[in-house]
Amino acid sequence: MGEYFGEVLQRALNRRDLFKTMGLLGAGVLVSSSCGGSGSSGSSVISPSSSSLSFKTIYPNTEDRITVPDGFEWDIIVKWGDALDNGENLNWNRVYEGCTQADVDRQKYCFGYNNDFVGYFKASDGAEILAVNNEYFNPELAFKDFLDLTTLKPKTGRPTKEESMLMLEAHGVSIVEIKKDKDGKYTYVKGSKYNRRITGSTPINISGPAKGHKLLKTSKDPNGELVYGTLNNCSAGKTPWGTLLSCEENFNSYFGGDLTKINDKDIQNLHKRYGIPSSYSAWYGFHLYDDRFNIEKEPNEPFRFGWVVEIDPLNPNRPPVKRTALGRIKHEAATCVVSKSGKVVVYMGDDERFQYIYKFVTKGKYDPNNREANFGLLDEGTLYTAKFNDDFTGEWIMLASVEAGKITVNSNLPDIYKNDPVLVFIDTRGAASALGATQMDRPEDFEWNPITKSAWAVMTYNDKRPSPNAPNPRYPNNFGHIIEIKEEGEDPESTKFKWDIPILCGISGSPDTNSQLVLYKKPASNDTPSISAPDNIAIDKLGNVWIATDGNPGKSRLQKNDGVYVLNPFNKELKMFLSGIPGCEICGPEFTNDYKYFFCAIQHPGEDPEDTGRILSQWPYLNDGVKIPRPSVLFVRRKDGKDIYA
Ligand code: FEO
Ligand code: CA
Ligand code: CA
Repeated sequence: MGEYFGEVLQRALNRRDLFKTMGLLGAGVLVSSSCGGSGSSGSSVISPSSSSLSFKTIYPNTEDRITVPDGFEWDIIVKWGDALDNGENLNWNRVYEGCTQADVDRQKYCFGYNNDFVGYFKASDGAEILAVNNEYFNPELAFKDFLDLTTLKPKTGRPTKEESMLMLEAHGVSIVEIKKDKDGKYTYVKGSKYNRRITGSTPINISGPAKGHKLLKTSKDPNGELVYGTLNNCSAGKTPWGTLLSCEENFNSYFGGDLTKINDKDIQNLHKRYGIPSSYSAWYGFHLYDDRFNIEKEPNEPFRFGWVVEIDPLNPNRPPVKRTALGRIKHEAATCVVSKSGKVVVYMGDDERFQYIYKFVTKGKYDPNNREANFGLLDEGTLYTAKFNDDFTGEWIMLASVEAGKITVNSNLPDIYKNDPVLVFIDTRGAASALGATQMDRPEDFEWNPITKSAWAVMTYNDKRPSPNAPNPRYPNNFGHIIEIKEEGEDPESTKFKWDIPILCGISGSPDTNSQLVLYKKPASNDTPSISAPDNIAIDKLGNVWIATDGNPGKSRLQKNDGVYVLNPFNKELKMFLSGIPGCEICGPEFTNDYKYFFCAIQHPGEDPEDTGRILSQWPYLNDGVKIPRPSVLFVRRKDGKDIYA
């Protein structure tokens, strides 16, 4: 049982009463001002004038086009179905009218669907590379007459085998070389040696503590060492040695079958904790055409998903690896930072209501002079989960550590984990819950801010929260918020921290304190753009926090398009930088190393947030006769060629 249903609930309620007594609640002041990090704080040494954003903010809108501030321009670099090899692009119109096996075969080599994370890498030969996650698929947008508009479920016989297998191949990761043309506009390089697809069927090695465990063995892989595919790759991270850590999030969506037909009650219970099977499986149909997605036939296959996958975008021949020491959750992101002692710390969130946040600290140290020496670093170390206290302090609770194949688990864990220590890594949610981790409002992205020297963790929203706990003070939390974690000594390796809430998202000027946009404990001015559902963030070299949203269109939020905003932590100003397409979420965000270009991904343009079967857009409306919307990756730049944050 997690802390939310235990002592902290009561303490949080008592605390709320205390605030009521103090008359602070109505002013939106739920956050202490006494939360400076220990030691010298980065924010105290950077003057506000060193971080300026001169662009004029735009505002949330509902237009069926990309909007950027005056003085900026954008274009598409690559989109779903663009051929990464020298072959033909996907035949989008045929896919729509009646998908064939030829289309499935092409999708294996074409850019995937629903681009989420965008990571910029530079190879030693100067090649510029984007590594992009392809999270999920919208069959109701890509395939004609897919839905029964009465039941809002797939029509009988849908998806067809070809539709299902095309969706499997459109998932995963797309690695693509990009280059600037003579006008400085980025395009992708067709047929580049760096281009690569990793899909829902690509062989992927398993490493770390769960490799070879009985729960990872299946009829196709009796040794539990090799998985076919990666799925629901949401956000990610980049390692200091230039690899991608791609995160498997809602992997449960793909598994069908009857849980009660699995004889092993322990496996039944483990699957229940992760939402397996899922009603979404009917949309993908994988279990209808491939037994490994049918839990009655392959009850262990779901244990082979929910991991962080390390992929080398600079070496197309290096096999991807699922790094099981980082735990099995609905992984949102895996953000790396090097600690003061030289270890690598990976911050991670489990994106589901009332789930937890985590970090992993490697046993070994990062070697900046020997890239190859870092490839086993993520297999040994210590996995922690976070407990937030009401007094704006917190601690990282050790779940387990692994070293030279030996696992040491937290002595307070129940016997089930002591008897089978690998279970801490497979049932990470259960272990964190047993140790009293704090239940959060859907942890999304995490970033280390090198200027404030603190970790920024995004809670997107939780409209089911019935009452508050300290770091999730609103209930229901319809708009989301961001938590700043100030590690002791500004060292990401620390096990103690202080925390603060720089932004409670909402509507600027709203008189309702539960809906009000609050910046650094103060209601935002009426001319500040409203914001909700923060999801992915990136931090520029001045410490500005670029926030991409996924949920503005929702009924209980802004009913506007999602966008990209920038929070300046020094002058505490929020501006809106980009507005997307109806139905889309915005992902990335990312920059070139020289900060001249900004990248973001337009994911699921046209998707109906209220699930009524409407198609909200056919963007990008290219002049190629294709009528279905296509997820795409964009660049944005200033027309005057200055830095993007100038
Ligand atoms: Fe795929 Fe948590 O967003
Ligand atoms: Ca996300
Ligand atoms: Ca990020």
